[in-house]
Amino acid sequence: MKVIGINGSPRREGNTAKLLDALFETLQKEGIETELVQVGGTDIRGCLSCYACIRNKDRQCSAKKDVFNAIFEKMLEADGMVLASPTYFADITPELKALIDRAGFVSRANGGLFRHKVGAAVISLRRGGGIHAYDSINHLFQICQMFIVGSSYWNLGFGGREGNEVLNDQEGLNNMQDLGQSMAFLLGKLGTR
Ligand SMILES: Cc1cc2nc3c(=O)[nH]c(=O)nc-3n(C[C@H](O)[C@H](O)[C@H](O)COP(=O)(O)O)c2cc1C
Repeated sequence: MKVIGINGSPRREGNTAKLLDALFETLQKEGIETELVQVGGTDIRGCLSCYACIRNKDRQCSAKKDVFNAIFEKMLEADGMVLASPTYFADITPELKALIDRAGFVSRANGGLFRHKVGAAVISLRRGGGIHAYDSINHLFQICQMFIVGSSYWNLGFGGREGNEVLNDQEGLNNMQDLGQSMAFLLGKLGTR
């Protein structure tokens, strides 16, 4: 069984990536396959509001020139998805928001392709606004009939400019471990592994 972690940060080795690393370590120990998918810093564009996905119902976005459809395929294959982002002005990055808008529309246009998948939001932040960003991700899961996993605190890690400061946030790292165990537990109960 597989969980993908989608990194919304343009910094491939930054705090958000470190949180995903910590989470993946636990998931792998629990026997779950993981894959890191990068959306931050890619050429992904926002939804064009053309409604072609609703007319075509072909499990794709009609805007095919960017990375969207390749990432969406991976979301469809996975049993669980972790959407992770740094906090940018109290919200997620524009790349992750573009992915959420388009993935949500295409999945819903095709009869609920994310239904009963497992989802978790992970947020890194320097100081404030992380909960708003966290909520932005959970809105996708909640409207797509998915099961949301939490941890012993909200799934947040604190780190600033250097991009590895989150490694000093032991509580945040412990949360990732707890989140991994709970995701594995839920996937096991759902019989998807
Ligand atoms: C454009 C921009 C906006 C930011 N806005 C916030 C913010 O609103 N709140 C906050 O706590 N940190 C903010 N930060 C800091 C990052 O969210 C934080 O350092 C995060 O851990 C970076 O993750 P990364 O290394 O994965 O990119 C901002 C950083 C940038 C570049």
